[in-house]
Amino acid sequence: MNRILSAHPTSGRSVDEITGSRRLRRMRKADWSRRLVQENHLTVNDLIWPIFLIEGENRREAVAAMPGVFRLSVDEAVREAERAAKLGIPALATFPNVDLSLRDQTGSEILNPDNLINRATRAIKAAVPEIGVITDAALDPFTSHGHDGILRDGVIVNDETVTQVAAAAVRQAEAGSDIIAPSDMMDGRIGAIRDALDAAGFNDVAIMSYATKFASAFYGPYREAIGTQGLLKGDKKTYYLDHANSDEAMREIEQDLDEGADMIMVKPGLPYLDIIRRAKDEFAMPTFAYQVSGEYAMIEAAAANGWIDGEKAMLESLLAFKRAGCDGILTYFAPRVAEMLRG
Ligand code: PBG
Repeated sequence: MNRILSAHPTSGRSVDEITGSRRLRRMRKADWSRRLVQENHLTVNDLIWPIFLIEGENRREAVAAMPGVFRLSVDEAVREAERAAKLGIPALATFPNVDLSLRDQTGSEILNPDNLINRATRAIKAAVPEIGVITDAALDPFTSHGHDGILRDGVIVNDETVTQVAAAAVRQAEAGSDIIAPSDMMDGRIGAIRDALDAAGFNDVAIMSYATKFASAFYGPYREAIGTQGLLKGDKKTYYLDHANSDEAMREIEQDLDEGADMIMVKPGLPYLDIIRRAKDEFAMPTFAYQVSGEYAMIEAAAANGWIDGEKAMLESLLAFKRAGCDGILTYFAPRVAEMLRG
């Protein structure tokens, strides 16, 4: 039939003449054929679950802008780690909501071997040694101003911050952290952390660099979750990347790899798929994306209003990261997806 129908009103050419008989819809005709030719897949092995920590016992505090996400006391975090391990989730990333009384100008509490992050790491690794624990060595949960660096006369002091971040990384490794993931974007932090870890005998503790962390509006709900929202004055544009820049992002990755990063991360996620693809193509290193709090909140809010199918949007967004070149994704959806993937 198609051969005699002219598809073009004036040329009279048929569709087969136009396409040269190539019909890309052939393999889309049924579920079985679509499954056969599917290029990318999402599995539980792709998931890293970021969790929020809080002091106390038996505490689960809802985060308003992140429905389904809670701040967990250490005992609750251990329970969730057990659940995650049973689901096959490879690793957790912990973020502490530090008591306000412990936050100061330099974020000194980050150096306390028994701070909230380190206590959680010890408890999780003792109860669930088979799950990977990733800890952030950035200062922002610990500073009274919510910045990721030491702030002096309105200026983030790079080198002093790096010294502190590197020392904090060693405390975190001592507590049992498997991967140090510094999210602060200070120059030279990766090399300094590598030196400090090696000098302390932690040669096998890896570094996941938040190599391309953009100054972004999508971090809002996270700041509510760790309690920096009310504290933070100004923005983070003097240390996070300008979200207009892609070449500069590649320079950040190159530098972090030269300094010894084992894995790289792009953050936020979905608005930066071009950066992920470029990073994977140019460096061919283990590449991760952080689907951040604002991305989670957007999907949840639209789903709660009945405007989108939340579950499908969640899966589509996560598969998009795989298509873009990610080896894995930090996502607040991790346990929900893992349960779905388990059927
Ligand atoms: C800061 C940090 C941020 C996130 C994790 N660590 C951003 C910020 O507060 O500026 C964001 C995570 C998210 O939005 O889910 N070092």
